Amino acid sequence: MRILTIIPTYNELESLPKTLGRLRSAVPASDVLVADDNSPDGTGALADRIAAEDPQVHVLHRKGKEGLGAAYIAGFRWALERGYDVVVEMDADGSHQPEQLPSLLTAIDGGADLVIGSRWVKGGSVVNWPFYRQLISRTGSTYARLMLGLKLKDITAGYRAFRRETLEKLDFDSIESRGYGFQVDLAWRIAKMGLTVVEVPVTFVERELGSSKMSGNIVLEAMVNVTRWGLAERLGQLAGRGR
Ligand code: GDD
Ligand code: MN
Repeated sequence: MRILTIIPTYNELESLPKTLGRLRSAVPASDVLVADDNSPDGTGALADRIAAEDPQVHVLHRKGKEGLGAAYIAGFRWALERGYDVVVEMDADGSHQPEQLPSLLTAIDGGADLVIGSRWVKGGSVVNWPFYRQLISRTGSTYARLMLGLKLKDITAGYRAFRRETLEKLDFDSIESRGYGFQVDLAWRIAKMGLTVVEVPVTFVERELGSSKMSGNIVLEAMVNVTRWGLAERLGQLAGRGR
């Protein structure tokens, strides 16, 4: 099984080397792709220096800050072209502990098409995450769950493992979400296709270095999209019933 872990970065100069080091020792089998949006702090150049020393580390330089979703899609394409069997999403800031990656990979081995490292299932937790972030995350997840009719508990989570075949079934060109709503978009598309989505508990640890790129616009985009998708789905169901 060939594994690629994609780490999107925007100004993660201090965090990236720590996370990379932890990942390389926790799961030495995984190759790594750093997808950097031309970070002004020089994260991309630092990633190049690490990659020069470690043949399993690769860097995708993007021209500017185009959002998490766009960076991941570019990374997914890179992975599929190179024949990886499993593709992992992991934040650069240490919030997704590399030491917990084996439990996501075990669920893939067990037959899951998408594995989500979940904060809000039994056994999952958050450490040092501000109350307002927990509130946004829990409320957002609940809203999306009701609106989209999904059973998932942590629908915005960004610690994930995809089976190659799952990514091959997605039409990347039709994905408009730029921000973190991208994660909801993917989970929804994959669940709707009837694929197996499994949540495994993880401990999400708030970053100690650098700062979050979360913004009001990101939350707004996700809310508007979830509402749009949910309504469209319901209208479609009603139309179907009337026929
Ligand atoms: N390339 C690129 N471009 N990377 C980005 C961008 C972007 O526009 N925006 C954010 N990132 C990277 C960050 O550098 C970091 O590695 C990762 O994406 C997560 O960003 P944070 O800013 O640390 O996110 P958070 O801690 O507030 O995140 C929450 O949402 C994330 C997105 O779904 C958590 O729930 C995370 O688990 C989740 O991944
Ligand atoms: Mn973070």
